[in-house]
Amino acid sequence: MPIGIHDLSFATGHYVLEHAELARAYGVDIDKFHLGIGQEAMSVLAADEDIVTMAAAAAQPIVDRHGTGDIRTVLLATETAVDQAKSAGVYVHSLLGLPAATRVVELKQACYGATAALQFAAALVAREPSQRVLVIATDVARYDLESPGESTQGAAAVAMLVAADPAILRVESPSGLFTADIMDFWRPNYRSTALVDGRTSITAYLQAVEGAWKDYGEQGGRAIDEFSAFCYHQPFTKMAHKAHRHLAEFASLADTPNELHTAVLPTTLYNRVIGNSYTASLYLGLAALLDHRTDLDGRPLAMFSYGSGSVAEFFGATVVPGHREHLRTAGNRSAVNRRTPIDFAGYRALHEQTLPTDGRDHELPVEGSGPFRLLGLSGHKRIYQARAHRS
Ligand code: HMG
Repeated sequence: MPIGIHDLSFATGHYVLEHAELARAYGVDIDKFHLGIGQEAMSVLAADEDIVTMAAAAAQPIVDRHGTGDIRTVLLATETAVDQAKSAGVYVHSLLGLPAATRVVELKQACYGATAALQFAAALVAREPSQRVLVIATDVARYDLESPGESTQGAAAVAMLVAADPAILRVESPSGLFTADIMDFWRPNYRSTALVDGRTSITAYLQAVEGAWKDYGEQGGRAIDEFSAFCYHQPFTKMAHKAHRHLAEFASLADTPNELHTAVLPTTLYNRVIGNSYTASLYLGLAALLDHRTDLDGRPLAMFSYGSGSVAEFFGATVVPGHREHLRTAGNRSAVNRRTPIDFAGYRALHEQTLPTDGRDHELPVEGSGPFRLLGLSGHKRIYQARAHRS
C-alpha cells in the first residue's frame, strides 16, 4: 500500500527583508548574496508571530480541506522550540480545533527533525491505514547580527498530511541513513541564536551526502540516473547545487554541469526568497519543485535531509499521477508575495527584541497579518489567538 504526502501547505513570516538592504547596510557586494550563497531575500517574523502561529497557519488549509476526523497524531518538528517541556504542537492542536483523541509530540534533531517525523508518520499509517498524521515543520533561523550566518536567516512552516494512497507523493523505502557526532552548528539552551562553524558545516553536510547515499545503495535503493529531480535541504540555495555536484561526482552521474543545475534549480525558488527555515527547508524545496515543474507525474524524486550535529537521510519518492490538482500553488505564491517589505532598521529592531521573562502580563503589538497571533504572555504562559478575519 503506498503511503506518503496527501496534502502540503506552507506559511511564512509577515515581513520580507531584501538582501539588497543587508548589502547596503554592511557594504557587501550584492553578488556575494545573489550568486555566492544564492539568496535574494529572507522572511522576518512580526513581533506577534512565532513557530506556533506559523505552524497553525500552515496547517489550517489542510484541516479546512480534509477535516479533522482522521487525524489522530500530530508530529511537530522544530529546533526553535518555545518551551522545554510542552510541545508546540499542543498549542497548534488547540488553535486548529483538533479532537481531544489525538497524540501530539515535538521532535528535534536540527533541520532533520521533519524527515524523522515524516518517516514515523508513514510507519503509523502503515500500522493503521485509516488514520492520517499531521506533520508540521516550523522554524525561525536566527544568527547573531553581523555574523556570517546572518544572511542565511529565514522562517517558514510546512504542514503535510501523511496518509495511505496519497494524492501527491509516495514515499519509498529504503532510506539511506548517516549519523556523525560533530559540532558544526548548535544552539545551547541559554542562547536564542545559533552557533556555527560555517566551513565545517559545509564539509559535514557534503560528507553526510556521501554517507547517506552509500547506505541507500547498500540497502538496495534506486540507481542515481533514475531520478527526475533532486531535492536537498537548503540552508542557502547554493548549498543544494554544491551538494548535487558532489553527489554526482561521488555516484558517477554522467550529467553535464547544465543538467546538474537544472535538476536542482526549481527546488530553490521559494527558499531563495524565504531563507533557511531549518526543518521546513527541504519541504519548501519540494513545494517549489512541484509548483514549478509540470512534467513529474509518475516520476521518481530524490530527497536529501540534513540536520547539523548531525543526522542525514536520503530517500526516494514517486510523484503521484494527477497530483497537480491537489497542489496549493496559488496559496504558496501568495504566502511569499504578500509579505510586507521591511527596511534594515526595522529588521534590526525586531532581531534585538526579546520576550519579557518576568512572568507579568504583557500584550504584544498587533503587527502580523496571518490567521493566528501571539497575543502576549501572562504568568510565563504564551497566549495565542485566532484572528477574527483570516487573511
Ligand atoms: P561567509 O564567510 O559569509 O561567506 O560564509 P564566504 O566568504 O564563504 O562566501 C560565500 C560564497 O560566496 C563563496 O562561494 C564565495 O566565493 C562567494 P563558495 O566558495 O562557497 O562557492 N562570494 C561571491 N560570489 C560572487 N560575487 C561575490 C562574492 N563574494 C563571495 N562578490 C557561510 C558563508 C555559508 C559559511 C555562512 O553564511 C554561514 O556560516 N552560514 C550558516 C551555516 C550554514 O548555512 N551551513 C550550511 C551547512 S550546515 C546545514 O545545512 C544545517 C543548518 O541548516 C542547520 C541545521 O541543521 O539545523 C545550517
